[in-house]
Amino acid sequence: MLLQISFILLLSLVPTSRSQSFQPCPILGPRFPLPTGLASDSIVQSALKNATATLDELVSTSNSTYGTISSNTTSFSIGLFTSNDPLNFSHPFFYEYNYAAPALSKTKLGTSKLNSETLFRIGTVTEVFTVWVFLIEAGEAYWIDPITKYIPELVEGNGQIAFGHFSWEDVTLGDLARHLSGVPRDYGIADLSTRNFSLPNALVIANRSGCLQPTYFFRDLSGRYPIYLPGTTPIMSNTAFQLLAYALEGIKQQPYDAMFNKTATSIGLSRSSLRYPLSTRNAIIPGANESVSGWSTDFGGEDPAIAMYSTITDISRAGIAMLNSTLISSAMTRRWLKPTAHTSNLVNDAGRPWIIYKSTKDQSPINPVIDIYTSYGSVGLYSSYFGLVPDYNVGFVILAADEASAPDLNVHVDIVADMLLPGLEKAAISQAGSIYSGEYRSNQTAASLIIEKPDGMPGLSLSNFTMGSKDIRKELATVAGISPSALSIRLYPTDLIERTTSGGTKIAFRAVFQDESAAIDAGTPTCITWLSVGALSYYGKPLDLFIFNLSEGQTSLEIPAFNLDMIKER
Ligand SMILES: *[C@@H]1O[C@H](CO)[C@@H](O)[C@H](O)[C@H]1NC(C)=O
Ligand SMILES: *[C@@H]1O[C@H](CO)[C@@H](O)[C@H](O)[C@H]1NC(C)=O
Ligand SMILES: *[C@@H]1O[C@H](CO)[C@@H](O)[C@H](O)[C@H]1NC(C)=O
Ligand SMILES: *[C@@H]1O[C@H](CO)[C@@H](O)[C@H](O)[C@H]1NC(C)=O
Ligand SMILES: *[C@@H]1O[C@H](CO)[C@@H](O)[C@H](O)[C@H]1NC(C)=O
Ligand SMILES: *[C@@H]1O[C@H](CO)[C@@H](O)[C@H](O)[C@H]1NC(C)=O
Ligand SMILES: *[C@@H]1O[C@H](CO)[C@@H](O)[C@H](O)[C@H]1NC(C)=O
Ligand SMILES: *[C@@H]1O[C@H](CO)[C@@H](O)[C@H](O)[C@H]1NC(C)=O
Ligand SMILES: *[C@@H]1O[C@H](CO)[C@@H](O)[C@H](O)[C@H]1NC(C)=O
Ligand SMILES: *[C@@H]1O[C@H](CO)[C@@H](O)[C@H](O)[C@H]1NC(C)=O
Ligand SMILES: *[C@@H]1O[C@H](CO)[C@@H](O)[C@H](O)[C@H]1NC(C)=O
Ligand SMILES: *[C@@H]1O[C@H](CO)[C@@H](O)[C@H](O)[C@H]1NC(C)=O
Repeated sequence: MLLQISFILLLSLVPTSRSQSFQPCPILGPRFPLPTGLASDSIVQSALKNATATLDELVSTSNSTYGTISSNTTSFSIGLFTSNDPLNFSHPFFYEYNYAAPALSKTKLGTSKLNSETLFRIGTVTEVFTVWVFLIEAGEAYWIDPITKYIPELVEGNGQIAFGHFSWEDVTLGDLARHLSGVPRDYGIADLSTRNFSLPNALVIANRSGCLQPTYFFRDLSGRYPIYLPGTTPIMSNTAFQLLAYALEGIKQQPYDAMFNKTATSIGLSRSSLRYPLSTRNAIIPGANESVSGWSTDFGGEDPAIAMYSTITDISRAGIAMLNSTLISSAMTRRWLKPTAHTSNLVNDAGRPWIIYKSTKDQSPINPVIDIYTSYGSVGLYSSYFGLVPDYNVGFVILAADEASAPDLNVHVDIVADMLLPGLEKAAISQAGSIYSGEYRSNQTAASLIIEKPDGMPGLSLSNFTMGSKDIRKELATVAGISPSALSIRLYPTDLIERTTSGGTKIAFRAVFQDESAAIDAGTPTCITWLSVGALSYYGKPLDLFIFNLSEGQTSLEIPAFNLDMIKER
């Protein structure tokens, strides 16, 4: 009965594309095993050569098919890193690109040259470090705690605004980290009353600008208008990260910058600091002076949201440590690199504190989606962009500074993403083709199975499967109620991977069964094969489980449901 229900689901809810040609519905996640050896992979290297050519053209003409930039005034550094290959500590990238704008040679302050050790302000990317330090020091168990447990002043103060039934007791630490707290954007920073705008005098009676003393801050903050009720919709707030850092101080009874320093030291971030750095050696400081550039701007208590100084080398080291779960458990990392809310844009989700870009060829519901976990923003004349792509265990960092105004990095990041992601996918496909595709045989049971060469669609297609005189594909089609000629079996890698005692690797794949001739849902194609994975079992073993064993250049395949061990022959 259960099986029947599963298959009704499988059959009725797995449609094909609007066109008549079959388009598989993959499981979300890598479509092929992670590519390795990026620094020597010829496809990745060719993609990177294209990236260099495109960037060279961009900076020499200020123009590209992706849009225009101000190459006379914008200097930038790009680093691409991966956790799949051994760490080169002194040079933690598989690609870097540094561009010093002509204006930089005239600068009176800081460096006039640019390299991977050049220090920038990184603005909002600081939030990523604050959440990371929180996870390292306190962990996820605190996400459900209300902020008032650590800052009771927020409810005790006289100034509390309860407008629209907002209650500080409803704001959890998790809400603060994931842009869902509804609390005000800033406190005492960027208040227009401190600047010379000809706005009408609002008869400001309270002393509510520029003050950064915590005792006063808590009482006063509670008198500010909230933006939404907590848990409603993503709204960026710097104050949220300030509060998160205060809560961490309360949990650990340590100053936040001591915990930040501990994390930085533990992975060798030698040039990064939360606050104004000890030295301006090899620092980029555009504009007339340190205050015009924003280099010396003191954000006071908002430091954990916006204040950090760093280099592409340090951020790459940190990104590798994030991807590789060096300082938190890998289970926590998997939960961290997940969305926690949608936004008004179909291809953007929000996370802690991620701005997630769901990269996809087009926005049709049946199309592989590659999630990019990013953080970006500007401070003074600086802009920064940071991203992690768990599907390949790679990441990127772009740090920039401009003479006139904070640069827009959309063109830079589009070039990086457009060159890098297809290159990585192609490399993954090519590596999967040579490792997995071929004919597998087992002598004992006279079984044979064919994994086709990658065919431009996600996952590996299993075309033939016989045991003795039995055509297993045909049997599976019958069980599934699919015509054998219309049965698609595609294998997707899972992250159940282990090293074998012989020094090899075992990796589990799951097969997705689909009916290539299934009727198309009227106008609303869906892709929900994840509802049916593992639905078929045989003597308690999943029929869709395929475990590959890679050892000394030899690939073998274990199918537990049939007690089969097969060796790849060609
Ligand atoms: C690099 O660019 C060339 C020429 O435009 C193109 O043929 C090639 O496919 C590109 N390589 C990659 C890996 O994108
Ligand atoms: C910039 O490049 C685009 C595409 O290559 C081109 O269509 C456009 O004319 C160029 N703009 C300028 C100002 O050169
Ligand atoms: C950039 O600098 C070059 C050389 O000094 C100059 O010819 C060009 O007009 C400048 N471009 C802009 C957009 O200022
Ligand atoms: C990732 O972590 C593993 C241990 O879990 C370690 O062996 C490996 O060197 C690390 N890789 C990088 C790039 O740091
Ligand atoms: C690290 O990378 C640099 C630059 O590519 C290279 O010169 C150096 O040999 C590498 N170090 C190791 C240990 O591979
Ligand atoms: C503020 O703006 C007014 C009017 O625009 C101007 O007269 C005044 O000089 C400005 N004050 C300062 C300190 O810049
Ligand atoms: C504003 O508050 C600060 C800190 O409490 C205090 O030093 C200052 O005198 C106050 N200013 C006014 C105008 O009340
Ligand atoms: C953290 O490190 C910075 C130098 O990067 C130092 O100035 C600061 O005092 C340190 N803070 C603590 C609490 O150790
Ligand atoms: C920095 O430069 C700006 C613009 O030239 C000027 O108004 C300001 O007084 C300078 N600040 C300092 C601290 O020199
Ligand atoms: C199966 O038999 C062939 C021919 O005798 C042999 O080359 C191959 O290694 C055997 N495979 C297994 C898995 O024993
Ligand atoms: C694969 O299966 C098809 C259809 O059953 C058959 O025509 C073909 O000969 C098989 N290929 C191999 C290599 O066994
Ligand atoms: C994996 O394959 C190798 C050789 O192909 C074999 O020696 C080893 O026993 C296999 N390991 C497992 C766990 O199946």
